[in-house]
Amino acid sequence: MCAKIEEDTNSNLYKNLLEGNKQFVEESLKIDPEYFTNLAKGQAPPVLWIGCADSRVPANQITNTAPGEIFVHRNIANMVIHSDMNMLSVLDYAVNVLKVKHVIVTGHYGCGGVTAAISNQQFGLIDNWLRHIKDVYRLHAKELDQIADMDERCDRLVEYNVIENVYNLCKTSIVQNAWQIGQPLGVHGWVYSLSTGIISDMKVSAYDNANMENVFRFK
Ligand code: CO
Repeated sequence: MCAKIEEDTNSNLYKNLLEGNKQFVEESLKIDPEYFTNLAKGQAPPVLWIGCADSRVPANQITNTAPGEIFVHRNIANMVIHSDMNMLSVLDYAVNVLKVKHVIVTGHYGCGGVTAAISNQQFGLIDNWLRHIKDVYRLHAKELDQIADMDERCDRLVEYNVIENVYNLCKTSIVQNAWQIGQPLGVHGWVYSLSTGIISDMKVSAYDNANMENVFRFK
């Protein structure tokens, strides 16, 4: 019985999404009858977005951009892990084929992944993913340990997690090779506020590897 009720609710929800799609198509065509024909011709987005999978942080809506303008990769807590083939494939395609001008790591305050990582609780498989955030904490433990308010401490760790993931991007051979051949490419870190909708720039933008620790620098 319960399963049946649940199925009905779920199937309504599912149908609503398809209904929503119909509305999207109608409204888009009303504004521009060639909308989909033009989009289907190809993409040339100038930006790669690496964001959190959180449903409240959709790249296009919060930057007031349209389909075709942002190439998107999302995972839990907007991580750039140097052995993640998924992220590396997206980055390689974006930089070397699409020739994006900017790569932006966008975190958000109140990130569940960061909150989980700061705690001592186990959450299962994901603990292995969140371990990278614990490493970020370790790098900045001196400052973070001083922040008594846990929400404030989480927010600061969200910022440091973005900053370290910007550095992780810069350390990849993909980004450094683009810089090496003089391809214009900026790497940036942003944090989005769920409660105000405002994006803050972490001001760690990089356009070359001049300030990178020597051991990470490729010739
Ligand atoms: Co998040």
